[in-house]
Amino acid sequence: MAAMLHGRRILLIIAGGIAAYKSLDLIRRLRERGAAVRGVLTKGGAQFVTPLSVATLSRDKVYQDLFSLTDESEIGHIRLARECDLVVVAPATADLLAKMAHGLADDLASTLLLATDKPILVAPAMNFVMWNSAATQGNLATLRQRGVRSVGPESGELAEGETGMGRMSEPLSIVAAIEDLLGAGGPLRGKRALVTSGPTYEAVDPVRFIGNRSSGKQGHAIAVALAALGADTTLVSGPTHLADPPGVAVKRIESAEEMLAACQAALPADIAVCAAAVADWRARERRNQKIKKNGSLPALELTENPDILATLSGKGPARPRLVVGFAAETEDVIKNATAKRRRKGCDWIVANDVSAATGTFGGDANTVHLIDASGAETWPRLPKDDVARRLAQRIADHFKQP
Ligand code: C5P
Repeated sequence: MAAMLHGRRILLIIAGGIAAYKSLDLIRRLRERGAAVRGVLTKGGAQFVTPLSVATLSRDKVYQDLFSLTDESEIGHIRLARECDLVVVAPATADLLAKMAHGLADDLASTLLLATDKPILVAPAMNFVMWNSAATQGNLATLRQRGVRSVGPESGELAEGETGMGRMSEPLSIVAAIEDLLGAGGPLRGKRALVTSGPTYEAVDPVRFIGNRSSGKQGHAIAVALAALGADTTLVSGPTHLADPPGVAVKRIESAEEMLAACQAALPADIAVCAAAVADWRARERRNQKIKKNGSLPALELTENPDILATLSGKGPARPRLVVGFAAETEDVIKNATAKRRRKGCDWIVANDVSAATGTFGGDANTVHLIDASGAETWPRLPKDDVARRLAQRIADHFKQP
């Protein structure tokens, strides 16, 4: 799933209505798309869903009290109101809409709504008579005039057994309204991307393997950056200590052969970025039992691993339109990487100097050169996240060209 909302921060106010249970699903849907959700529960809201459910799903603290010393010492309500990209009120009750329209600030939710300088989206939910009342309609008209956006309600059976207008919109409709409001389309929307990351482990016997020290930081960051621009991204990762990034489909594998199979299963793709440090060799024979020490040194016969980058770059209908490789070099970086680009058949190669003095391997920063058919361009030393964002933007620019 594309992380349309990657990095977006949503302050979700849950007021007291039976539709509050749908807001738990809303949190899940938003997080799936890469958004960070911070929950605020009104007194009424806490009658319908528990703070623990909201905290567990949002993986954040839940805010409930205006006059909470602990909250105020951690994050004041003014900061809480502003440290977000959007405030969503779901469900928005008739009472809370009335408070908003009149500028009341007698609890945390209404105070935040008055104090925020961010856009507000409300998802009303109430009995149809309350919805149709002149007071509610008047309050909503006032709020809309001030720029508050709304989604729903919809018509259908209401909790009391009556039928009419008043049901809160379904979570996916609210998500669509949020994406719309935040302009989260992204230049790579509709494109499929495949990223390899991390090392591979090649088993020698049940306890030993051939591996390397790749952390996966650069590859994971590239997957996140592509997803943030709207690409439907699959990350094929060797063993790393990194958490699965939200909004990215992650396939965890161990060996080079498994990595190749997972990549081929993820095709067709428009974009492939091979950032994994694939082991060049594996043991010709994988022992089923642990190799015993018996006085003599065991001989390890090696065989070559498949080259995933070269395979993906090979001509054919399944070839991604843009294949990007990495070249970790310790000397003559540009010259060696330029030759590697031709040898492997990829379109671009990102070359980096991994000689010990640079601290690139396992570190947080990287100095790279982007090499294509027309030459090399050297980027300044940047955090790996920035290298990833810059590369993703270059990829988006490439697809923009006619
Ligand atoms: O040949 P070398 O390992 O230096 O090439 C590095 C590039 O090739 C990287 O993009 C890496 O992900 C990719 N590669 C691969 N499969 C291999 C070896 C390298 O995809 N077996």
